[in-house]
Amino acid sequence: MPALTTGSVVAVIGSGAMGAGIAQVAAACGYRVKLYDSRAEAVGKALAEIGQMYHKLAGKGRMTADEAAAATARLQGAATLAEVADAALVVEAIVENLDAKRALFAELEGIVGDACILATNTSSISVTAIAAQLRLPQRLAGMHFFNPVPLMALVEVVSGLATDAAVADTVFATAAAWGKSPVHAKSTPGFIVNRVARPFYAEALRLLTEQAGSAASIDAVLREAGGFRMGPFELMDLIGHDVNFSVTQSVFHAYFNDPRFTPSVLQQEMVNAGFLGRKSGRGFYRYGDAAAAPQP
Ligand code: NAI
Repeated sequence: MPALTTGSVVAVIGSGAMGAGIAQVAAACGYRVKLYDSRAEAVGKALAEIGQMYHKLAGKGRMTADEAAAATARLQGAATLAEVADAALVVEAIVENLDAKRALFAELEGIVGDACILATNTSSISVTAIAAQLRLPQRLAGMHFFNPVPLMALVEVVSGLATDAAVADTVFATAAAWGKSPVHAKSTPGFIVNRVARPFYAEALRLLTEQAGSAASIDAVLREAGGFRMGPFELMDLIGHDVNFSVTQSVFHAYFNDPRFTPSVLQQEMVNAGFLGRKSGRGFYRYGDAAAAPQP
């Protein structure tokens, strides 16, 4: 199955960290992108940040000024969902919640054409369950990018029980056309990466709770001796504790409360406090203006 042709309209729903990254990559690769968020200000912020990123990349010689201008011109904000009616592919990157995703896709089915492929960037929710209530469940697949999207090559293309193989193949080829390294996966809890990564986070959180080392020292060990690009705490801060915690909860429940995946009380408290990581200025580390503040 070939990729969607360049010039096709890709709608990205949710303009947070992931949606903005997906939009940036798709527009840079020649696709017309419509970006929507239920918070209009999130769309404006994402468009401004993507424009700055293109400008920066042009400054570093990674794209020409003309390419940056053309990519910016291919990006447009959508004020309402109805504006994505001409999309050939919708990539959903909203909150990690089954009911919210189902409600969004149900609404989208009344807007887009029958040939439009629906993709979800969910980290952990069953693709089968998201698709189950659709009129055409075979057109939905997981298109799971990693954070930060412009830098991370891996994309898990996730098939639910009803997903049409041709749909998964088109999503796979489109991810490859966007310069990514896609892999096929089946809809199991956490898919591949978030399944094998759960013990990485859980064990690190247990070590911290037992005061075996500070977040910084555990991160340093994993980076320096373990060969990981980022330690578990800096990675959780990058991902966002709200997102990371809900992924753990979702995998835990999906495996019938298997104790291997028990969520961390410490991480729950981080979420309760609003210490979400980079995006809130504070997680296990402090960022931005808060970086100057004294550590607790
Ligand atoms: P985020 O919190 O940065 O952004 C989510 C955006 O969706 C927000 O701007 C919010 O206003 C918007 N939104 C929420 N409900 C909406 C609705 N019903 N309609 C339209 N917009 C809505 O979240 P992030 O990190 O971008 O994650 C988005 C999705 O991507 C989640 O499903 C998450 O599990 C997944 N994901 C996240 C990764 C990460 O490292 N943060 C990695 C891979 C996947």
